[in-house]
Order: sequence, then C-alpha cells, then structure tokens
Amino acid sequence: MLSTSRGISLVLAIAISGLVAAFLSLMDDATPLLIVTAGGLALAAAYLLINITLEFLVFREIGNIYSLLEKIQKKDLSEVSNKSSKSSISPLRKINSVINSYAIARQKEIDTLQKNAEFRREFIADISHELKTPIFATQGYIHTLLDGAMDDKQVRMKFLKRAAKSLDSLDILVQDLLTLNQMESGVIKFVFSDFDLKEIIDEVIEELEHKASKRKVTINFKYDLEKNYITHADRQKIYRVCQNLIFNAVKYNHDEGEVKITLKSHKNHIQVDIKDDGQGIPPEDLKRIFERFYRVEKSRNKKDGGTGLGLAIVKHILEGHKSKISVSSTVGKGSIFSFSLPLVKSTSHEETPKPETSTLK
Ligand SMILES: Nc1ncnc2c1ncn2[C@@H]1O[C@H](COP(=O)(O)OP(=O)(O)OP(=O)(O)O)[C@@H](O)[C@H]1O
Ligand SMILES: [Mg+2]
Repeated sequence: MLSTSRGISLVLAIAISGLVAAFLSLMDDATPLLIVTAGGLALAAAYLLINITLEFLVFREIGNIYSLLEKIQKKDLSEVSNKSSKSSISPLRKINSVINSYAIARQKEIDTLQKNAEFRREFIADISHELKTPIFATQGYIHTLLDGAMDDKQVRMKFLKRAAKSLDSLDILVQDLLTLNQMESGVIKFVFSDFDLKEIIDEVIEELEHKASKRKVTINFKYDLEKNYITHADRQKIYRVCQNLIFNAVKYNHDEGEVKITLKSHKNHIQVDIKDDGQGIPPEDLKRIFERFYRVEKSRNKKDGGTGLGLAIVKHILEGHKSKISVSSTVGKGSIFSFSLPLVKSTSHEETPKPETSTLK
C-alpha cells in the first residue's frame, strides 16, 4: 500500500495534518474543535494535492516509461506514439519523449534493414532464375552435341547457333545488371553534350524497323520540321532510353499494330511521347514495371520476352538527367510512355560542343 501514490499521499497528509494540529495546539486561544477541524482540512487538502501531484506528474510518467521500455523489449513498436512532448517542463516527460524518439528511430532502422534483407533475397532469387535460363539452354545444346548430334552437320549448326543465342542473351543480362549496379552506386559517368533528339529517335527506328516490319507493326514519328529539338544530355544513354521504350512499344504490341512517337518542343523542354495500341498494362502492374526483373507477362518462355531490366535502366538514366518517366496505360487499348529533356535554345549548336561529365548521384 505504501508504494502506491495513495499510500504515500495518505502518510504525508497525516504527517502534515499532525503538524498543523500540533502547531495550533500551541496557541492559547485554539479550541479543540478548531484544532480538529484544521487538522481534518489539512489532511484532506494535503492528501488531494500530494495524490494529484504524484499521480499525474510522477507515477503516470514512470508508468509510461515502463510500458515503453516493455514494448522496446518485446520489439513491439507499432503503437509507440510519435507525439513529441519536448516542450513539457516535467523532466520525466522529457525522459519519456527522448526514449520515445530513440525507439522510433531504432524501429525505422530495423524496418529498413529488414526491407533490405528481403530485397536482397528477392534479388538473388530473380538473378539466379534469369541466369539459369540461358545457362541451362546452352548446357543442353552442348551436351546434345557431345552425345552424338555433332555428327549431323545440319543439327550441329542449328544447335551451335542456338547455344550462341543463349550466350548472347546471358551477355546482355550481365551487361544490364552491371549498368544498373554502376548507376545505383553512382560510379557511372554521364557524358553531357548537345545533340538532336530527333536524330536519335530516327536511328532507333532504323534499328528496330526490321523487327517491327516482321510483325507488320508501323512506327510513326511525328515532329514539327520547323522546330528545334536540340537537347543537352548523355547521347548514348538517351539512345538506350529511346531504344528500350520504342522496342517495348513494338514488342508488346499486337501484329499490325501501331507505334506513335511524338516530339513536342516547349519553352524550356522537349517532351517525348511513345504511344502504342498494344496489350496495355493492368493498373496493379503499372506501379511495378520500373522494378528490376518485373514483367507483366511472367512466362519465361514467351517469345521475345526480355529480362525485365529495361525500364529499371530507363528510370535510372532519366533520374541522372533530373527527369522522370511517366506512363499511362489501358488494358487492351495501349500505353503511352513520356519523358522530358531540357531544350537548348541556342541556334549555334553547329559549333562542336564540349562534352561535360557528371556522375549520377
Ligand atoms: N509498351 C508496353 N506495353 C505493354 N507492356 C509493357 C510495355 N512496356 C513494358 N511493358 C511491361 O513491362 C515489363 C518491363 O519492361 P522492361 O522493358 O523493363 O523489360 P522487358 O522488356 O521485359 O526486358 P528488357 O527490356 O530488359 O529486354 C515488360 O516485361 C512488359 O510486361
Ligand atoms: Mg524492355
């Protein structure tokens, strides 16, 4: 009982009322009724005041600190309050607030570490799967050749070509992973120069024309002949961005589909829109397509299916240019991917511009 706030308050109140009564009894004109009344009042008032003080300023705060410490021990910080009571004058409340913020900070750290560990696990699983496919395929062809298929000239050529194709895709995968890794760790250099965005897109279209015409996909490129499309960026990397976006628009289109590329020159920037009338992307996948290895079509054997690294690289490259990629898509109708780059207004771009380098942050 003595350890509770009520017990302590009662003992102190009795002591105070005893002192008051003893003090009054020393006075000559104090009647017994006065002494008893004053003692009683002192007891009640002291009890109330001490109890309130202990309950609200000390015990409740200590209780809060204990429950917080218990939660920290149990690693259950989901309900730890984020309220700051730094402005409070009570030292106990301040201690509570410090422990509170410490616990929240540690919990955030733990959450990040757990997320990173999960991300690593997923990444290793994805990477192993992606590497396994071309390795197994090549292994299969080589072993079949060694087991006797080598003697047939036609089969030999066919299998060697297939093995070479699998190794090529393995090479592309490793190159893409290296590029992503270098961009994420900030070691990759961006070589900035002035160049014509229109020319880059023309080059990409030329490169993809054969693939597109095989599936009778038409590529339309729209721009204003009188306008300037000179930008200041890393030419090689922007080529990569356009290549993946236009290639995707062809690859994920239906046969005889259409890809429309539009360049719009604004006051300070050039907008590139790449629109297809293909299969579209479901809303739940739309926010994930920029993640590494994410593919809407999960089937690994899908003809022409890529590794799912293209858009992750596009996103990183554009971030390195302080730009970003946006997408809107309707299933069954098609998708439109857009990004912007700065417009170089000067007409003196014919003078050879000096390349500058910068590192992705
Ligand atoms: N224009 C598009 N229309 C429909 N789906 C698309 C389109 N562009 C991308 N996607 C979906 O987003 C996924 C991720 O695209 P991304 O370019 O990152 O990878 P990929 O094309 O599969 O492989 P990679 O580009 O590495 O060869 C694709 O697998 C596809 O499912
Ligand atoms: Mg792609």
